[in-house]
Amino acid sequence: MIPVFKPAMGQEEIEAISQVIKSGWLGLGPKTEQFEKEFAEYLGVKYALALNSATAALHLALMVLAVKDREVITTPMTFVSTNHAILYNQGRPVFTDIETDTLNINPEEIKKNLTKKTKAIMAVHYGGQACRLEEIIKLAKDNNLSVVEDCAHACGGEYKGKKLGTFGDLACFSFHAVKNLATGDGGMIVTNNKEWHERLKKLRWLGINKDTWEREESEHKERGGYSWSYNVEELGFKYHMNDLNSALGLVQLAKLDKMNEKRRILAKRYDVLLKDVKEIELPVEKEYAKSSWHNYVIKTSARDRLNLFLADRGISTGVHYIPNNHYLIYQKYGEKTPAAEAVWTKLLTLPLYPDLAEDEQDSVINGLKDFFKGAN
Ligand SMILES: Cc1ncc(COP(=O)(O)O)c(C=O)c1O
Repeated sequence: MIPVFKPAMGQEEIEAISQVIKSGWLGLGPKTEQFEKEFAEYLGVKYALALNSATAALHLALMVLAVKDREVITTPMTFVSTNHAILYNQGRPVFTDIETDTLNINPEEIKKNLTKKTKAIMAVHYGGQACRLEEIIKLAKDNNLSVVEDCAHACGGEYKGKKLGTFGDLACFSFHAVKNLATGDGGMIVTNNKEWHERLKKLRWLGINKDTWEREESEHKERGGYSWSYNVEELGFKYHMNDLNSALGLVQLAKLDKMNEKRRILAKRYDVLLKDVKEIELPVEKEYAKSSWHNYVIKTSARDRLNLFLADRGISTGVHYIPNNHYLIYQKYGEKTPAAEAVWTKLLTLPLYPDLAEDEQDSVINGLKDFFKGAN
């Protein structure tokens, strides 16, 4: 079977993990601190905090922004985590329509949905391609709103030459098993705001005002200080990353640009070899964006039959996403998103990952061509 996504892991990751096991410190510790430091440097932001998922990061981002009883502009074309984070914080999601070509939230539609209650905008960079950030940031500034970038797909992606995750007030990354940078599960929340960073540090560890690693370190330094003493200042969560995941993260971060380049080469190869198949529309990469090519999503009105046809040939494809306002828990939020409605039935995600071999990619391409030649 050719999967849709696959993590790119090797001997280096195995060695990094085994080093942590041998060190005897598996929890939140020095590897996590190092991962945070290197990740912040890679992006060019002041603060990065490693968490156990992007879902946790999104939850905490909206918690520091205090969206309770306020409206949050969001997209239906995302994984539910983006929108669950609004509900976790008792905010109201305002589903806002997307651009049909990039599948990103449409700034013109954002403008229409702004009200006195609006507090924040979720900018999900679908597939790793940047939203129209300049327009979104301007709307936020003009209306005194905050922007959270959901960079779950976008690790290493850029907008006008600058890394995604450096534009919003806060940005959230996912290191889930099939993401561009994979640690099994994991996430990162980044910001340039020191106060938020300090609060987030507590929130990710049950509200405790010192983490175990800091206590251990100070014990070594002070030899007998009150290393066991801490206070709990507010109700936090068990959301931090551990050193096993961070060790994987460090290896993956060092390889990220190379892995993304492999994705780019494969995406361009799909572009070239599929351009004559008139029944499908290929993904676009806008001039302002350098996509991280998390996924390669085609549009075709034969989506469901094609999905089954390729499955019979051992090729997995996926659908990203069912518009979130279709789900029962979101149906009561009434805003209409006609562009998302029109496009989602056509979306099909083809296999794309750094280790996808050319002959495997050829099988996908030939499968598509055979299907449209009438083999269907
Ligand atoms: C756009 C988007 N946001 C958030 C998430 C949540 O990421 P995690 O699985 O790390 O919680 C995902 C995961 O697939 C995603 O695709």
